Amino acid sequence: MFRLPKGRLFAAASAIALSFFVVMPAAAQVPAPQAEQRAKALVAQMTLDEKIRLVFGQYSTDMPSKSFVTPKGGRPSSAGYVDGVERLSIPPQWLTDAGVGVSTHRTAKVKRERTALPSGIATAATWNRKLAFEGGAMIGREARLSGFNVLLAGGVNLLREPRNGRNFEYGGEDPWLAGVMVGEQIRGIQSNRIVSTLKHHAFNDQETNRNTLDVKIGEAAARASDLLALQVALEVGDPHSVMCAYNRVRGAYACESEWLLNEVLKKDWGFKGYVMSDWGAVHSTTQAANAGLDQQSGWPFDKAPYFDAPLKEAVQNGHVSPERLDDMVTRILWGLIASGAMDEAVSDRSAEIDYAAHAKITQADAEEAMVLLKNNGVLPLAKTARSILVVGGHADVAVLSGGGSSQVYGSPAMIVPNEGPEEFPGPMVWHPSSPVKALQARTSAKITYVDGKDIAAAKKLAAKSDVVIVFATQWTGESKDVENLSLPGQQDALIAALSGKKTVVVVQSGGPVLMPWLPRVGAVIEAWYPGTSGGEAIARVLTGEVNPSGRLPVTFPASEAQLPRPVIDGDPKNKELRPTVDYDIEGAAVGYRWFDLKGHKPLFPFGFGLSYTRFAYDGLSAEASDGLKVAFRVTNGGQRAGQDVPQIYVAPVAGGWEAPKRLGNFDKLTLTPGETKTVNLTVDPRLLATYDEAKKRWIVRGGAYRVILARSATDPVREVTVTLPDQVYDLHGHKVP
Ligand code: GLC
Repeated sequence: MFRLPKGRLFAAASAIALSFFVVMPAAAQVPAPQAEQRAKALVAQMTLDEKIRLVFGQYSTDMPSKSFVTPKGGRPSSAGYVDGVERLSIPPQWLTDAGVGVSTHRTAKVKRERTALPSGIATAATWNRKLAFEGGAMIGREARLSGFNVLLAGGVNLLREPRNGRNFEYGGEDPWLAGVMVGEQIRGIQSNRIVSTLKHHAFNDQETNRNTLDVKIGEAAARASDLLALQVALEVGDPHSVMCAYNRVRGAYACESEWLLNEVLKKDWGFKGYVMSDWGAVHSTTQAANAGLDQQSGWPFDKAPYFDAPLKEAVQNGHVSPERLDDMVTRILWGLIASGAMDEAVSDRSAEIDYAAHAKITQADAEEAMVLLKNNGVLPLAKTARSILVVGGHADVAVLSGGGSSQVYGSPAMIVPNEGPEEFPGPMVWHPSSPVKALQARTSAKITYVDGKDIAAAKKLAAKSDVVIVFATQWTGESKDVENLSLPGQQDALIAALSGKKTVVVVQSGGPVLMPWLPRVGAVIEAWYPGTSGGEAIARVLTGEVNPSGRLPVTFPASEAQLPRPVIDGDPKNKELRPTVDYDIEGAAVGYRWFDLKGHKPLFPFGFGLSYTRFAYDGLSAEASDGLKVAFRVTNGGQRAGQDVPQIYVAPVAGGWEAPKRLGNFDKLTLTPGETKTVNLTVDPRLLATYDEAKKRWIVRGGAYRVILARSATDPVREVTVTLPDQVYDLHGHKVP
């Protein structure tokens, strides 16, 4: 670490791994049937001990508190390591976190400095499938070149709880948007011939008491909410591994839930890959193995090495059949073979990473993730501005990132003493990408930066400035929920003191926040955690080099009283508490659906976002066809190019759903001034149906349906009504004759 002025520390540069490598021809991914054949042939040659070796994963970071050291062969300060079987050319599995890039676990002395994407919710806020894929492809490449063949990404837990400390890792509140965006990222990751996970299966939607809480939710509501998000991501991304969650669901721990693993995931959805546990989420040997868990991860996080000697003994005593053990190992090998990881070994070739090219990818994501929430015309910044005051959020040197196992360290990372917790999910890590420096490079205005701790002094400077830009931050991290949605510390008071029509607020948060000062400021941008090129991205949106095109993937409540649970269930101070969290309160009416159902007016609605230009919609038509086919036109009516996100919502005229309407689909398109484009979309039949528990079918009830073309969940622009026939669909959304 070396000390910067103002007492801020930047992590030391990481050890640059010197490695010599032979350029390998990229192996292709292997078609499923062939992969299955090869996996079975390998298993037939394996001894019992070799099979046990493959289903037992260890942590790959020293844990002095448990007298545990990184296993021989493991990559230091990373998430996991599973021995291979050299005799059969089965490689070890090297596992790294997570959804924004190659992480380094917190106890590491030397950080593995890599490119960080913006947070998962930021990528969802782009509503841009292509960007999600490209971001996944980039972090998957950094994972492979860092010597990892499993990337623990694909977090898609539905945003039921706006105070969840891990919302920043996921894809928002709508199952279709979250499933599509996270699925595209998984597809991108696996294009590098490594395995991506999909996680956390299922209903780990809050961090308070995450290891013990029991989720109560009915079958139909479950299938149409969190499980639909996971299923869509599975269909779009084809992940070769699924990580089961910490919590219980209907009384059973997720990693030993017959319903979640054997029934829903493997039988109903036809999942051929392997289920790995979360780190410390295993509670048994025979129950877990027989319920569908295929690999214990992260020993010694669990109380016992359940899938090591205890599993061998269970197989020898007939408690777990040899066939089931063979199935576990076949699934793991299937994942390694189908992804291409088996045929193209990984090694530490981090010297090959093209950070400059990767910076462009994360920056493009961050730019399209930014949501312009309010603008009285103060943005884009006027070229005539002579003096700009920038306040707070360490905006002179860095941008914020979320904490926990997904932590990626930029180069070099900044950690401010006495800011944020030392212990997990800390430290609070800032990426060295300065909005002020990036802004200064784009304007001849005099820019003054103050940290905002002295509100009176900042107020005096604001009075003499043409523009005031306040950087508001809300740090969130794994294992903790935020107590409330207010900005922490004195930030609301600071913004109120600096408010005015020339004041711009840039929010870097993990999810929704309250904004009591909103009526009194000129503009607000939600920048989320914008990744290792976030400073450039923010400056380009502020100056208008980039026209903001983000749309909210989550409802911003006007108050916590509007939520299904005004107070989070459980007690963060009592780790042993075993609370029940009743998701039947809202069921599948998550987010905007709940706000529609209850008639609540949000601060900002799902799908909302402004632009520096304006778009018009017309020509809406819809026809029934294996779901729904929709067409419409979008025109850029402004003076500058921009991107828009037209949204299609669907609603049965006769009601009968969990809420008045659902998002049916969306598109993201770029239009030059005056340009018109026609958009053709389909709506998946499962989004038009209700789930029939007894028949395990999706039922579309015949009748009239409203098809709404909208700018957000509360801003309909065009509407048509279409009549759909009675129709039954199977679990995959295929018509049942
Ligand atoms: C963590 C997280 C999981 C992560 C794993 C390995 O506790 O829940 O998302 O991939 O452990 O670090």
